Amino acid sequence: MAGRESGAAVVRCAGRIGVVASVAMNLAWLAMYIRRRYFTARRSDGGAEADVVEAGKGKPPVTPDSVVNLDHGDPTMYEEFWRATGDCATIVIPGWQTMSYFSDLSGVCWFVEPGFEHQVRRLHRLVGNAMVDGYHLLVGTGSTQLFQAALYALSPAEDGSPINVVSPAPYYSSYPSVTNFLNSALYRWGGDANTFDGDTCIELVCSPNNPDGGIRKAVIKSKSSKAIHDFAYYWPQYTPITEAASHDIMLFTVSKCTGHAGTRLGWALVKDKEVAQKMIKFIELNTIGVSKDSQLRAAKIIKAVCDGYELSSYGDASRLFHFARHKMAARWNRLRLAVEASGIFTLPDELPGHCSFSNDTIISNPPFAWLRYKKDDVEDLEGFLREQKIITRGGTRFGVDGKVVRVSMVDTDEAFDVFVNRLVSLK
Ligand SMILES: *[C@@H]1O[C@H](CO)[C@@H](O)[C@H](O)[C@H]1NC(C)=O
Repeated sequence: MAGRESGAAVVRCAGRIGVVASVAMNLAWLAMYIRRRYFTARRSDGGAEADVVEAGKGKPPVTPDSVVNLDHGDPTMYEEFWRATGDCATIVIPGWQTMSYFSDLSGVCWFVEPGFEHQVRRLHRLVGNAMVDGYHLLVGTGSTQLFQAALYALSPAEDGSPINVVSPAPYYSSYPSVTNFLNSALYRWGGDANTFDGDTCIELVCSPNNPDGGIRKAVIKSKSSKAIHDFAYYWPQYTPITEAASHDIMLFTVSKCTGHAGTRLGWALVKDKEVAQKMIKFIELNTIGVSKDSQLRAAKIIKAVCDGYELSSYGDASRLFHFARHKMAARWNRLRLAVEASGIFTLPDELPGHCSFSNDTIISNPPFAWLRYKKDDVEDLEGFLREQKIITRGGTRFGVDGKVVRVSMVDTDEAFDVFVNRLVSLK
């Protein structure tokens, strides 16, 4: 590829005063060259000390007049916690490390880093939200990849019509999009599980549920049907931990647990070896494994979370779930007051329960507010809020009506403040 060659030449030249941009060099490589020169300029000569690579800034800052985008559940709320923990979650990866494709040729999953697996199992034992003994642990590029791997693994092998994939409405808006995106011959979106009347299906059980925070069990009873449990939000900052779950396929993600959405790491606990092997096959063909760099980073982050609870040398400030629960509870209090003050919205009822992790009765603090408009003059609440420069996701995307929207509760303090203040002013 011509672009690649000219790019390599540019890298070799980086640091010299002038580089004549060849005609063949395209704009993408020019942009990369500028970025590299910037980083090269910042490096110390010895090269031995770790250089902190500057990351992209993410979304633009929020001001009282700006648009607040609470469409995605972007967990930037957690930055405050990780900024305060010093370097206990920092990693340095030398240039020669993590080069091989392979991580663990002795295990079931050849691309899972043993250190990552160890810390994930430790975390589940600490929190008590899922059984890990007797389960195969798979890693994926976010739980979204594992979700697709699970659909592949659970689809019947024999030729025939695609198996239906269902979930009770309101269901996570990505389920239909991801399921139907490639028009697979193996599976297709079958809609609301409550109205499904076929014999066999794959049911997606999301608990606490995205978007409405409800606690869910599988609703499909037929023996030939299979369930995938999406436990992205089954963590003590969002909901009381009431049992160590032990379903056939359980999906988790660092994104909603520690806030590291950009690390793109999820994991699956899978009971059946054959299903696990099919899921591994999918990931092999899809991305030839999962970034080791991300796994090492996630392992360090999860280790810091566990150490925060298990090592006495760590203070209260290093307790992630406590930090996040307090933050979520404070936000939910403010939101409920604002909704009451405005008089035109409703929210789901509070769900109390005994949490085995905190040994306390707590109320749930869902990661999304499922906000409903209760008057008759607006049918499209998403559009109505967009006029107020609040970006949310409308109910029709979740299989229900448009008078309800999903609003992220895990964004920055600034975005949340602006959102609540605007909401209070609506009558
Ligand atoms: C949980 O709390 C109760 C009541 O405060 C207490 O009696 C009990 O010992 C606690 N259990 C654990 C495991 O800490």
